[in-house]
Amino acid sequence: MPSLANFIHTQFVLTIPQPSASFSSKTVIITGANGGLGKETAKHVLRLGASKVVLACRSPARGNRARVEVELASKCGPGVVNVWELDLESPSSIKGFVDKANALPRLDVLVNNAGIMEVEFRVVYGTERTVAVNDIGTFLLALQLIPKMKETARRFGVTPHMTFVGSALYDVAKYPERHGGDLFTWLEDERNVNLANQYNLSKLLQLYGAIKLSSIVGSPIVINSMDPCFCGTHLADRLTGVKKVLIKLLTAAAARTAEEGSRLVVQAASAGPETHGLYLRAGAVQKYAPIALDKGKASHVWEVLCARLEKLQPGVLENLR
Ligand SMILES: NC(=O)c1ccc[n+]([C@@H]2O[C@H](COP(=O)([O-])OP(=O)(O)OC[C@H]3O[C@@H](n4cnc5c(N)ncnc54)[C@H](OP(=O)(O)O)[C@@H]3O)[C@@H](O)[C@H]2O)c1
Repeated sequence: MPSLANFIHTQFVLTIPQPSASFSSKTVIITGANGGLGKETAKHVLRLGASKVVLACRSPARGNRARVEVELASKCGPGVVNVWELDLESPSSIKGFVDKANALPRLDVLVNNAGIMEVEFRVVYGTERTVAVNDIGTFLLALQLIPKMKETARRFGVTPHMTFVGSALYDVAKYPERHGGDLFTWLEDERNVNLANQYNLSKLLQLYGAIKLSSIVGSPIVINSMDPCFCGTHLADRLTGVKKVLIKLLTAAAARTAEEGSRLVVQAASAGPETHGLYLRAGAVQKYAPIALDKGKASHVWEVLCARLEKLQPGVLENLR
């Protein structure tokens, strides 16, 4: 977690420039794009010339409301902004989404933005729901879109980008050291889960996944992770009691707007190959905290993640070859 001084700097002092990289001719998919950072990211990439933007949303109604707002803001013509249904808790929804994406002429950018901060213990994919959505569902989609991105690189001579919207809270995650043979199975048991830690843990696991994925996929796709600062969005809406009051106070006092945070998302999604496998915060590559560099933990997470993905979508690991 950033120090207090760093938090104050990024929340109050740092000037976050408007992104200016061209997205001309690009096709961009943004998950969780019906609100918060995702919706604002869509507005930016359209302003920067994207020719097609897919708002990947689990609720078509919410997605379409966002589409109208994004179209109005960017004054783009019909058909440029598209709402496609995507529920990261459903392998069939993910597969249906991937089939549509494979029919696109090109896929230049995938922003893995959708995420949750769960407040009740629930099981999805045989594990706790926060890691199910933020890690398993997220990578189940990401792995299936890699062939389309590689094809885009070949056909159009471009460098596609895959950006994971992570969180600086990853380095305060408590990683369960004695989780037995499979961390995800361990987290299926409510007695092993501390919900206050799950979001942070999910972002640490996401980082391990992104680091491993980037080491396997390599060029021509730039794969990076980033932290968008602390922004006022709907992420913590389901908190209750004292935590809700505290987050509301902190949001009122210190939060950046979703629009400001989304500038950093767009920066990462257009950053150079020197960011491949790395993590950006406040607009620059940051050194990983020691826990992110723990090879043993990263290897275990990658191994059990891949096993889950293969079980949910047989053959998905072929996409890594
Ligand atoms: N806000 C911050 O300060 C902050 C800081 C660091 C990192 N982040 C990260 O930024 C990303 C965007 O969050 P946000 O702050 O913009 O929060 P948000 O407003 O709550 O947006 C989250 C998006 O994810 C979608 N989503 C949730 N579960 C999904 C599922 N199963 N399938 C598909 N989409 C799903 C949500 O859809 P619904 O509207 O249908 O729920 C929503 O569109 C998250 O990954 C979050 O961890 C945020």
